[in-house]
Parts: sequence; structure tokens; C-alpha cells
Amino acid sequence: MAGKLRIRVNGKLRTVASAPGTPLLYVLSDELQLQGPRFGCGLAQCGSCSVLVDGRETRSCVTPVSAVAGKSVTTLEGLPAWYARERKLAQVPALHPVQQAMIDEQAVQCGYCFNGMIIQAAELLSKHADPSEAQIRSAMNGHLCRCGSYPRVIRAIRRAAQLMQQSSAERKKEGATIGWNLPVAEDRR
Ligand code: FES
Ligand code: FES
Repeated sequence: MAGKLRIRVNGKLRTVASAPGTPLLYVLSDELQLQGPRFGCGLAQCGSCSVLVDGRETRSCVTPVSAVAGKSVTTLEGLPAWYARERKLAQVPALHPVQQAMIDEQAVQCGYCFNGMIIQAAELLSKHADPSEAQIRSAMNGHLCRCGSYPRVIRAIRRAAQLMQQSSAERKKEGATIGWNLPVAEDRR
């Protein structure tokens, strides 16, 4: 069956040569050269390999590539375009609001866990426009950060929710695309 499997990744239909049981993570990184999802535990425990499959956070290290045939896979590389499609934006922003907020809040330390943090937060905000801290903590519970960036991640997700609400309000008012007008947070290190 090698070379017969077709999967949609970041909006493009791709034919992959890997055996159907190959973990999606290996196909994305080794065949398709997408370096957003990262290998951490390989056991669905840390979240560093997360991708969106039909908009749901999925651990690509334990998902056989055959399981995503006919579905839409989004990696970190495709997240701004996914957001633009979801929100029906006229243009694809350079960054998803969660990515921008992580930068603004200086949330990233070594960065290893942040693929999964961003993917999970993007899913959360696609379903809850204004999540409570309890909802954020619950959604992010399965993502491990050895650097302990959790408080900053929570602040960044709240900030991203604000950015998205602001963007929606601006688009309603002006018919414009996304804008980032919140002040950058001071360094809280
Ligand atoms: S590498 Fe997939 S959850 Fe840890
Ligand atoms: S920022 Fe280093 S593991 Fe999370």
C-alpha cells in the first residue's frame, strides 16, 4: 500500500509513502518536513506532538497515519491559515492570535512544549470565545512543560481571547482583517 495513502495537511492533499500504521508524527516530520509537531514522550502523555484533526487536538505520536485519511490535519505551520478559514478572514494573518499572545506575554522559555500548547489553546478558543481560568486549566491539563511556563500560558490564552474578540469587533465595524492593538505586556520574569 506504500504510496497510496492520501491525506490533507494544512489545506493541501498529499500522497504519502509510509505504511498505514506509521505514526502520523513521523509522516509529518520525516516525509512532509513539517517541524511544528515534536516528539516528546511518544505515549500521548506530554502533548508536544499535537496537531488538529478536523479541528480537534490530536496526539500525532500515537495516531496511525491511516486514521486521518479523509480528514483535515493542521500543524503549527498551517495554524494561521486554519484560523483565517475558520473566521472567514480576507487575509491569512502572519500568526494565529494564540501565537501572538504567547509572544506578547513572553510565555515561551525553551519552547519545546509550545507546539502543543498553541495547538490546544487554538482549539479551546475556537470553541469558547472567553474561557474562564478553570476552563483554560482544564483544557491545557494534558500539556507538560518542564520549564514551568504554565502561569504565562494562562495569561497568554486570556490575552489571545481578547485579541480575537477585538478582531471580531473591528471586522464587524470596519469589514477589516485582523489587527493587534493591545499593548505588549511588561516583562514579569
Ligand atoms: S510525543 Fe506525543 S504526547 Fe508526547
Ligand atoms: S517552555 Fe520549555 S518545556 Fe515548556
